[in-house]
Amino acid sequence: MPFAMFASSTDTVLMTTAVDAVLQRYGARREALVQILREVQDQTRWLSRAVIERVAAGIGLTPAIVEGVASFYRFMHLRPVGHYHLQWSDNITDRMRGSRALAQDLCRRLQVESGALSADALVSVDFTSCTGLGDQGPALLVNQHQVLTRMDSSRVRELAELVRARVPVADWPSEWLRVDDQVCRRDVLLGAAAMQGQAMRAMLARGAEATLAEVVTSRLRGRGGAGFGTGRKWTLCREAPTPPGGARVVVCNADEGEPGTFKDRVLLTRQADAVFEGMTVAARVLGARQGLLYLRGEYRYLLESLQAVLTQRRAQGLLGARILDTDGFDFDIAIHVGAGAYVCGEESALIESLEGKRGTPRIRPPFPVEQGYLGQPTVVNNVETFCASAHIALQGGAWWARMGTPDSSGTKLHSVSGDCERPGVYEYPFGVTIAQILHDCGASSTQAVQVGGPSGVCLAVPEFDRRICFEDVPTAGAFMVFDRSRDMFEVAHSFSQFFAHESCGFCTPCRVGTKLVLRRMDKLAAGFGSLFDEVELRELEALMHGTTHCGLGAGATNALRDTLARFRPAYEQRLQSPVFTPGFDLDAELEPARRVTGRDDARAHLERQG
Ligand SMILES: Cc1cc2nc3c(=O)[nH]c(=O)nc-3n(C[C@H](O)[C@H](O)[C@H](O)COP(=O)(O)O)c2cc1C
Ligand code: SF4
Repeated sequence: MPFAMFASSTDTVLMTTAVDAVLQRYGARREALVQILREVQDQTRWLSRAVIERVAAGIGLTPAIVEGVASFYRFMHLRPVGHYHLQWSDNITDRMRGSRALAQDLCRRLQVESGALSADALVSVDFTSCTGLGDQGPALLVNQHQVLTRMDSSRVRELAELVRARVPVADWPSEWLRVDDQVCRRDVLLGAAAMQGQAMRAMLARGAEATLAEVVTSRLRGRGGAGFGTGRKWTLCREAPTPPGGARVVVCNADEGEPGTFKDRVLLTRQADAVFEGMTVAARVLGARQGLLYLRGEYRYLLESLQAVLTQRRAQGLLGARILDTDGFDFDIAIHVGAGAYVCGEESALIESLEGKRGTPRIRPPFPVEQGYLGQPTVVNNVETFCASAHIALQGGAWWARMGTPDSSGTKLHSVSGDCERPGVYEYPFGVTIAQILHDCGASSTQAVQVGGPSGVCLAVPEFDRRICFEDVPTAGAFMVFDRSRDMFEVAHSFSQFFAHESCGFCTPCRVGTKLVLRRMDKLAAGFGSLFDEVELRELEALMHGTTHCGLGAGATNALRDTLARFRPAYEQRLQSPVFTPGFDLDAELEPARRVTGRDDARAHLERQG
């Protein structure tokens, strides 16, 4: 990572050279705006007005549009950040491992306030949503290019010293930067040898149409959460007409923003070939020439290794023109790095972001399979879905369909974190019970499991014999374990903070609803809860289901609903008053008035009035 290449934002010559070089690399294309801003910022550290204007002029947009895009993404800075910009992962599992106290200690040692820039502009410390390292947290992003795992008080102490001594990140202990895969249970996906064209050869031998029939036969359902049939999605896209001069597009969703989920990170590290092979199989089935992998900004550190896999596959004739010497089989994949916005995992928001815009979910129809990336029919699938597709192309749909349950064929990866001895990634055929996973990961005294992340479901002990599959407990891959020492109100409170922070603001029920929920939860946490607040929370929860524009708002109160139903005592102790209580100490607020009037009698106090 270039380290502080510019002494100040007034160094106009260096700035314009940097901006122009990036613009040239991307041909100043409008749809590359997010990439351009991200790469410029890598060199300028933040996006000053001068940078915004230069980028805008280069692309032919107004500065307001460019600034509007930049302001959408948390990893783009419209104000200066430190030479060392440190962002603590702020998932509940990080907090359970003491991340909040560690962050406070770091700020104290560096003499900087959380969220602010140090006086000498050396460092800024902040929080960000889950960084996808729940199995080895507390984790910390450094300048958005590196990650530090397993932070503890001694590492924080040393980190503060390294920062103060201005030691380059490359010279920090390599152990700190280590990210382990922590694969704890393998099945057909994680246990497979590297895919080097086997699936594509099988697909070419069988033919594109017959391969699509195998995907349909497999009954594979998307692993990104909604569980839409992959064969059906590919069929719809294949049948959609392409615009003049356009073609079909294959997009891999590697945004993995659901807190507690990190299985795609492991697939991209260990099985990248299979993921790219699945995308290439899809391309042949659809007749697509362009592939895009949307890599979440938090996984920026994986970019070089993924690019290396792509380069190798091009050299092997597995990507590029005339793949495997087949006329008309031309396909390549580019990687687009996101910039810190959970909503960009939603497929239409993701496409907007790929087009260089704010990640606002689109109004549908038209659906992406009809009009997606730049108006072209587009298939968006999750990383795991493409990986599974490659194996189906190789081994056939019937083979896949034999695993799992009637409505949920094949295997599923689970990111296990929280209170257990062996956090990591576990692959099971669909239908495994919650209890089985808890047993395998070494969890004891478990009171709750959050399946599928904050927008999933929260289950209590009597439900641990339920099975993970679309027929019973569906999941996008997160499995967070909470033992009896945990306060389930705090869990729900942290999720409400997450959604209020991540709401894109496009529709009122979510923009306002998530904030109102958070305000009530804050009030309860501060000790001012009343039964009135519970009624309000329940009303908000009911209102937000079915009125929001996208799934983010629709799932934002799931944890509130589930914890209220299953862990009400955690709320009851915070609902002390049967009547409305304001969210502050009214009597204390009257103190200045008492001082001014010289009164301190009983009638001048609310609580003493009787
Ligand atoms: C707020 C929100 C966030 C999402 N995040 C992701 C994500 O990180 N990864 C993903 O694959 N799907 C995510 N999805 C689901 C996608 O919209 C889409 O359904 C999925 O990428 C389709 O792939 P699949 O058919 O393989 O599941 C998200 C949906 C919503 C509403
Ligand atoms: S539900 Fe939330 S995230 Fe989705 S469009 Fe509305 S405001 Fe944006």
